[in-house]
Amino acid sequence: MEHLTLNTGAKIPLVGLGTWDLRDETCVSLVSEAIRLGYRLIDTAQMYDNEKEVGQGIAQTNVDRDDLFITTKLDSRSNGYKQALEGISRSLDNLNLDYVDLLLVHEPYSNDLAMYEALSEAYHDGKVKAIGISNYNQKRFEQFLKNVDIIPAVNQVECHLQFQKWVLQQKLKEHGTIMQAWSPLSQGKLGFEKQPEFLQLSEKYKKSPAQIVLRFLTQRGISVIPKTRRIECLEENMSIFDFQLLPEEMNLLKSLDKDTTLFSWTEY
Ligand SMILES: NC(=O)c1ccc[n+]([C@@H]2O[C@H](COP(=O)([O-])OP(=O)(O)OC[C@H]3O[C@@H](n4cnc5c(N)ncnc54)[C@H](OP(=O)(O)O)[C@@H]3O)[C@@H](O)[C@H]2O)c1
Repeated sequence: MEHLTLNTGAKIPLVGLGTWDLRDETCVSLVSEAIRLGYRLIDTAQMYDNEKEVGQGIAQTNVDRDDLFITTKLDSRSNGYKQALEGISRSLDNLNLDYVDLLLVHEPYSNDLAMYEALSEAYHDGKVKAIGISNYNQKRFEQFLKNVDIIPAVNQVECHLQFQKWVLQQKLKEHGTIMQAWSPLSQGKLGFEKQPEFLQLSEKYKKSPAQIVLRFLTQRGISVIPKTRRIECLEENMSIFDFQLLPEEMNLLKSLDKDTTLFSWTEY
């Protein structure tokens, strides 16, 4: 597994498992199976209502805690300093962990600065190894930076073929913030696997269309967290480091960018 280095000096895997929508025993077994297969990054959130199951999946494995990278996110229930401190304790309890590797403010909430103060405190206390944000566009990111002492290690945003976010990635990079892509496979909504560009690249590299997309994003230096319920796709989604797209192929995929969200709830 390849990594990026966060502004804390810690390493974040380029590929992790997203867990939105995974529930109950399915979630427990997928998390433990993913770790068994070599995944080290698991992405959850209070909003997904599955932190307990993610924690149970982790507990079923014998990988050293230090080798795992666990992300969670605080949602609107933590929209305030005190509420965020309580939220952090709740997440650690749910996950049954002493610390998380990355804690994000899930969206730009009205009291995000107060929330972030609580995250910063947890960071100094060692309950959280890195802190960051999610769903901040460039304008909000720049405003946010003016008011915080700790530069977010990560901004997790919608990013896939149709919404590639090159400008945001560059802006984040200037400040040492890593971009992480949610819905990197566009939740299967684009049907890209039928596009000739993909069929050609798939054929050339003997890789699935999903692998081509994940390779494209990770080759740009973006961490990805595809979600799957299928064991064969777990394996597939992490097997993207044994080939490299050529510059002209990167440009071809870049040309498919429509700079448009696929999800109406995001505010871009
Ligand atoms: N910060 C945020 O606001 C935010 C928002 C949304 C998501 N997220 C995070 O990002 C993660 C990923 O996003 P997502 O779950 O929305 O969408 P996604 O990962 O882009 O797509 C998931 C879909 O792709 C399918 N899939 C996975 N691997 C595949 C493969 N190799 N070939 C073909 N199809 C494949 C899955 O089907 P199967 O399950 O049937 O394999 C599922 O339908 C989430 O789980 C969550 O952790 C964060």
